[in-house]
Amino acid sequence: MMADRKAPVGVFDSGLGGLSVLKELVGVMPRERFLFRGDSANAPYGTKTGDEVLALSRRSTQWLLERGCKEIVVACNTASAVCIEALRKEWPAVPFIGIEPALKPAALENPGGKILLMATPLTLRLERIAALRQRFETKAFISFLPCRGLVELIEGGHLDDDVLFDFLDHLIPPEMRRNLDAAVLGCTHYPHIRPALKRFFEPATRLYDGGAGTARRALAVLRERGLDDPDGTGGVELFNTDPDPALARRAEALMA
Ligand code: DGL
Repeated sequence: MMADRKAPVGVFDSGLGGLSVLKELVGVMPRERFLFRGDSANAPYGTKTGDEVLALSRRSTQWLLERGCKEIVVACNTASAVCIEALRKEWPAVPFIGIEPALKPAALENPGGKILLMATPLTLRLERIAALRQRFETKAFISFLPCRGLVELIEGGHLDDDVLFDFLDHLIPPEMRRNLDAAVLGCTHYPHIRPALKRFFEPATRLYDGGAGTARRALAVLRERGLDDPDGTGGVELFNTDPDPALARRAEALMA
């Protein structure tokens, strides 16, 4: 890959979730150009095997690199936890930025507190996430909640309606929500339902996600490598492997 300041930053996810990270990226580097690849045709990733997620992530990476991207942001907690190291090994010259559940700020800002990590079933089975939990479980009481089915609802546009609230009611029983200090949104789809989650949980429950930290890191790495474009024109191009126009409209609305 030719290192070129003017090249776009590539961003991928299993679907619309990564747009929550893309918004943060545009916020911290408005002059960069971004090329986003959502893989909604193959979503969800979180109920697949690690090998399947690796194969799909390689395909997205390849696609973005063919279009000249200078950095790849893996805007998917599942793919980052499964295969960021494998991607780095396969493309050693390319800077890859991953995302991880924001357990660290949640545990440090709520010492001795009750914390719920919401993520996909695959993310929560991974060694990497077990190690993350181990680092912070002396600071807070951390429980894991695999949220099977939630990504499909968000992809389907149920961001704040009765369908979503009924689903959340079954997924997160009252005893789990009671006196909860923090909920960590460990999947990039979940920030899209932040307002609904804010109303669903008790008012004192704080919500955390890793999007802003990931965006800051992506900028820092571009600067370290002399690849940032502070005089650029900016711009975002969205692509999805599922050509459904309703999905494209939802993506535009999420970016507005
Ligand atoms: N948005 C992704 C994540 O952050 C993947 C969700 C999925 O496709 O299951 O984990």
